[in-house]
Amino acid sequence: MKYLFSSLACLLGLCLTAVSAQAQQPGKSAPEIVRTTCYMCHSTHGNNPDLGFIPRLAAQSSAYIEDQLKAFRDGSRADPPATMYMWPIAQGLSDNQIKQVAVWFSSQPPAEPFPASSAAKEGREIFLHGILKEDVPACASCHGPKADGNGIFPRLAGQNTQYLLAQLRYFRSGVRNDKGADIMKPIAQHLTDDQMSAVADYLSTL
Ligand code: HEC
Ligand code: HEC
Repeated sequence: MKYLFSSLACLLGLCLTAVSAQAQQPGKSAPEIVRTTCYMCHSTHGNNPDLGFIPRLAAQSSAYIEDQLKAFRDGSRADPPATMYMWPIAQGLSDNQIKQVAVWFSSQPPAEPFPASSAAKEGREIFLHGILKEDVPACASCHGPKADGNGIFPRLAGQNTQYLLAQLRYFRSGVRNDKGADIMKPIAQHLTDDQMSAVADYLSTL
């Protein structure tokens, strides 16, 4: 209940004051940081209910989580939700704390996937085989046949549809510009909005 309240408050932008007050976290261990800060939006185990623009972190690759926290901290991941929510938080984390929270979320069991939708069939095709005539490679070739990620390649399975779709658009426009984004930018630029929606729908069901 406490978590639900916090999440709703976050949606209304009310938790930002609390977040900035906690921006510096010297000496705090990973479980303390998670319980006092991250839980508000991601939940303690990284499996927030479907709040759309907030990603699930459970079972995400730890190397990828580390890279993203550093990209929020150095400002290279600069889409609007990143600047509004994650920039102030990442500023307060040391390299060592980043490593530890990454291991924490990466070791949590993944959430139940979302129910299948009608667009997911086309999305499956794109994910497994790409779109030859549009120069789109199979997503599975990097993200893994089950989209469970590895190293710098993030897990996409069971992620919120709205979040995935937003990220594909941010890669396409270049506003998400961290070092790993160079790989996704040309791929996203070859996808139409409908193809992005279909593949995001499919991934959320895995
Ligand atoms: C006020 C809400 C809020 C809090 C608190 C919060 N996050 Fe986030 N987090 C977000 C949002 C929103 C995004 C999506 C950013 C975007 O769209 O670029 C995000 C994205 C992320 C990502 C990127 C995930 C991906 O798949 O690329 C990581 C990693 C992350 N957060 C870790 C953390 C950690 C660790 C903490 C605690 C130290 C934390 N967050 C606290 C809202 C929050
Ligand atoms: C050549 C390897 C490669 C291929 C092929 C690829 N990706 Fe990626 N993808 C990456 C990398 C690397 C990242 C991490 C980018 C970063 O660090 O910012 C990523 C990130 C993403 C993200 C952001 C995830 C998050 O949690 O924020 C989405 C969504 C995504 N890819 C979807 C796709 C889709 C859909 C396809 C197929 C149409 C695809 N990718 C094909 C390498 C690839």
